[in-house]
Amino acid sequence: MDQKLIDQYMDELIYAQQGELDAVLMYNKLAEKVKDAKDAAAFKQLAAEEGRHASVFHAYTKKVLQPKKTKAVFVPLMYSIAGRRVLYPIIAKQEYAAADKYKNIVSLFPDVESVMNDETRHGDIVNGLLK
Ligand SMILES: [Fe+2]
Repeated sequence: MDQKLIDQYMDELIYAQQGELDAVLMYNKLAEKVKDAKDAAAFKQLAAEEGRHASVFHAYTKKVLQPKKTKAVFVPLMYSIAGRRVLYPIIAKQEYAAADKYKNIVSLFPDVESVMNDETRHGDIVNGLLK
């Protein structure tokens, strides 16, 4: 791996790694909260995949980060207050936004491609729960 390139993009890579870690915690907490078993199973699966994403970025950054709890508290709360029909499209939109963001670095960091594709699929899965 090109360490100079990694150093040049270190802030973005750390930011991405942090976002993935936060998503693991958020999806696991959401899986505990949701009433539908199908939704819970989907969110557990997404949590596991976000964990793999974090490891992809870790391979570049070599930094050990701690998940931040903000989204893991806020998103399940929003499920209680607003319900799944409001919340899930917002989550899907964030997944698509993540995929868009990764588009900018995928040519430099090839391992990000599968992550990017997963985020698009995640958006589809979360939207699909409402169908
Ligand atoms: Fe991810």
